[in-house]
Amino acid sequence: MTRAGGALLALLAAGAPLHAASAPAVRGAGGAVAAAEASATRAGVALLRAGGNAVDAAVATALALAVSHPEAGNLGGGGFAVVRFGDEIVTLDFRETAPAAAHAGTYLDADGDPIAEASTLGALAAGVPGTPSGLYALHQRFGSRPWAEVVDPAYHLAAGGFPVSRRLHDALVEEQEVLARFPTTAAVWLPGGAPPPIGSIVRLPELAATLARYAGLGPAGITSGPVASAVERTVAAGGGILTAADMAAYEPVWRPAVRFSAFGWELASMDLPSSGGIILGQTLGVLERLGWKDRPRFGADRAHLLAETWRRAFADRYLLGDPATTGARAADLLAAAWLDERAGEIDRAHASSSEAVAPWPGEADEADDTTHVSVVDGAGNVVAMTTTLNGSFGCGLLVPEAGFLLNNQMDDFATAPGRPNLYGLVQGAANAVGAGKRMLSSMTPTIAWNGSDVVAVGGRGGSRIPTATAQVLLNLIVDGDPLQSAVDRPRLHHQWRPDRLEADPDALGPETAAELERRGHALYFWPLPVKVHAVRRLADGTTEAAADPRGPGVGDVATPDVAAPGAPGGSK
Ligand code: DON
Repeated sequence: MTRAGGALLALLAAGAPLHAASAPAVRGAGGAVAAAEASATRAGVALLRAGGNAVDAAVATALALAVSHPEAGNLGGGGFAVVRFGDEIVTLDFRETAPAAAHAGTYLDADGDPIAEASTLGALAAGVPGTPSGLYALHQRFGSRPWAEVVDPAYHLAAGGFPVSRRLHDALVEEQEVLARFPTTAAVWLPGGAPPPIGSIVRLPELAATLARYAGLGPAGITSGPVASAVERTVAAGGGILTAADMAAYEPVWRPAVRFSAFGWELASMDLPSSGGIILGQTLGVLERLGWKDRPRFGADRAHLLAETWRRAFADRYLLGDPATTGARAADLLAAAWLDERAGEIDRAHASSSEAVAPWPGEADEADDTTHVSVVDGAGNVVAMTTTLNGSFGCGLLVPEAGFLLNNQMDDFATAPGRPNLYGLVQGAANAVGAGKRMLSSMTPTIAWNGSDVVAVGGRGGSRIPTATAQVLLNLIVDGDPLQSAVDRPRLHHQWRPDRLEADPDALGPETAAELERRGHALYFWPLPVKVHAVRRLADGTTEAAADPRGPGVGDVATPDVAAPGAPGGSK
């Protein structure tokens, strides 16, 4: 059994709880927002209070995250949104694409070996940003308030300044060495050579000017003209290949959601180029077939079945990539016959070895067709949206005249055969680098509903997003947890390779851990680096928000229920 971290061991030995006991979710009416940063949640709630709908609020929240949560919120990255608006359910793919000059050898040296850090740090790691066009497209289709009003809270944060939160300060301390390598980034985020202190006011005038252009001109204010030229200049100076022409050519794609039902609930999640919805659908489908609901809640049986199910879902992920080029499809991997077969392979008493679990054996298509925010409004429209720069602060490089950081999403491709990416994922040929391709994601923005309730959920944390999202949903829809407890509970993770069952340090009691080892699981304890935010609307119109305490994020509602404990205007 491996337990990561000596300090953690000391805590455990002292019997200290690693997660505080759950407070109730913030409750009220008129809609709810859960996101990673208080100022961003406030931006979304302000839109709801002004009569905006869930899409207005989600876009305002995402833009505010681009200011006050710069390690993930972005204009220089991408994301996915799942929307249920009235009876319509649709997703928007605003994932980055590979620049036109990218090819299978972009991250390899002359001997075919991976070039250290090339896909993770610096200009060459940047894919073509999708966020500027994506957020605008969402608003154009569904928004109800004027575009400038939706951009306004982010503009004011950037222009007027905001206090540095503990979360942001800690993120800057953690990445200080890397950020210091990029003078344009250090000038903004390490003023005087160090992260700004907690509570100090940061103003971002260049980013404010970019947001003002965006408010006035829409995406063209960023993807063409001086901002796009500045991106090209900065990238070229850093040895990258992203150009202004790439930015101008970028288009988001509306796609049908992956749809499935499980445990009496309907679910809509993200299809390719994210693997998240497929992994979630396989997880719930196989667990339902295995009678998971009837196994004891705590103990080895359920943990074992989760591990065996995920081992297989992530083996299938190996076949996935941009659906415009090649790879398997959701319909193949969620087919009832395939889920039956996977469920039938699972031995309840013994762990399989990942070596022995092969991906789906069918014929994959050859080519041709093609920080998470959860919001619900008072009318029951719902948005689950995950945006990302990939690694913390993306590729580390800030475009000085534009004021925003660029992503390192190119690392989500299989950049070299057999090389695990930032999240330890070993990926297949379907996800090879190619000009204009979208890199495979694990993001899992998801909406789930039964006859009375609707939930929006999703998270950040790379490969651990679909497994965490699945567990929060299982806590809610199988075990009936209150929303906040469903988010708070310790979690498990398995991703086929490496062949180990990862666990939050407090996820398994000693007897359960011993039993799992007896069944053949290699256990690896560490605080799983994944955060989930969820909102829910109940049949009576009550709305709730639950942010992940690991973040710590913040949930709030449009009209707080002052009678409810834990809802003093929202922040927790
Ligand atoms: O698309 C993906 O799967 C990853 N680029 C997501 C990155 C992420 O969640 C960062 N958070 N830790």
